[in-house]
This record gives sequence, C-alpha cells and structure tokens, in this order.
Amino acid sequence: MTFHLSDNAYRTDTPEAKQAMFEDLRSLLKGIVEGEHDLIANTANFSALVYNSMPDLNWAGFYLLKEDELVLGPFQGKPACIRIKRGRGVCGTALAEASTQLVPDVHAFPGHIACDAASRSELVVPVFAKGEVIGVFDLDSPLPNRFDQVDADGIQSLVKILEATFA
Ligand code: SME
Repeated sequence: MTFHLSDNAYRTDTPEAKQAMFEDLRSLLKGIVEGEHDLIANTANFSALVYNSMPDLNWAGFYLLKEDELVLGPFQGKPACIRIKRGRGVCGTALAEASTQLVPDVHAFPGHIACDAASRSELVVPVFAKGEVIGVFDLDSPLPNRFDQVDADGIQSLVKILEATFA
C-alpha cells in the first residue's frame, strides 16, 4: 500500500493502485465491523475509514431512511444538510431509483443539493437491508470528475460488507 505522506490517504494514480486500495479497505473494514451489529457504530467507522483513506474528498457519510425521508447519519467532513426528500438531489435520486449515482459535475445534475459549495463531483451508493434501501452512502469531492466506475464498484463492495452486519 502507498500513502500520501501529507494526509495518509492512499495514492490512486492508476486503476491498479485504486483496486489495491479497495482490496485493503475491504480487509480493514471486515476487521472493524467483525462481530459488531450496531448500525451507528459501523456506519461511523465506515465513514472514518473511507474519508481518511481515499484522496481528494471533502465529505463522506450516510443518510439513513426515516419516515420516507433521508436523515443525516454518521459522517466525516463539514456539517451538512439534515433532511433530504425521496427523489431530491443526488442522494434522494439514489434512494428513489435504488441505484448508484456517479455524478462527474454536480453543477450539471438537476436538483443537486449544495451542502458545501466546494463540492464538484459526487458518488452515492444505496444501502440495502432485506432487499429495501435503508439509506445511502455519499462521497463528495472538490475535484470535478473525481469518481469513476472503479470507485463506484469499490464503494459498493464495501457497502456489501456493511450490509452483511445487518443480518
Ligand atoms: N449533494 C447531496 C446532498 C448531501 S451533501 O453533499 C453532504 C445531494 O445532492 O443529494
């Protein structure tokens, strides 16, 4: 594994390096959540692991579904919008469509909710329990086009490890 000396994030200049980072993160996450079923504890540690490992992020965290609305959950980064309705913004779209949203330019996404004006690109992955979406994991970057399919696949693989703790 290779780290940025400045901030401890991995260097992911090549697709191979990015794959290697996600392999490490899967193994670290399994170690962290093993034997623990508490949703808040596991989502908090998940956010911290991702935020401190992936370079060029300004926010990483969960919105959890409560009474058909997404409510801010454990996260890392600046304080954020608290409630997001189904179908609103990138997170509400991930919920409504039960699918990953890869947004290279948030300014071009209709209805994007700007919690932090610095955010330029975004990746949102739905979290499932018993086949239903129970929340989303949201990643923001100050760089345009920060996320690609390797990131989407990698984050989905981490979310699967989290989902296994709900069983
Ligand atoms: N930009 C998101 C809102 C959440 S913040 O980025 C933390 C959206 O459009 O759903």
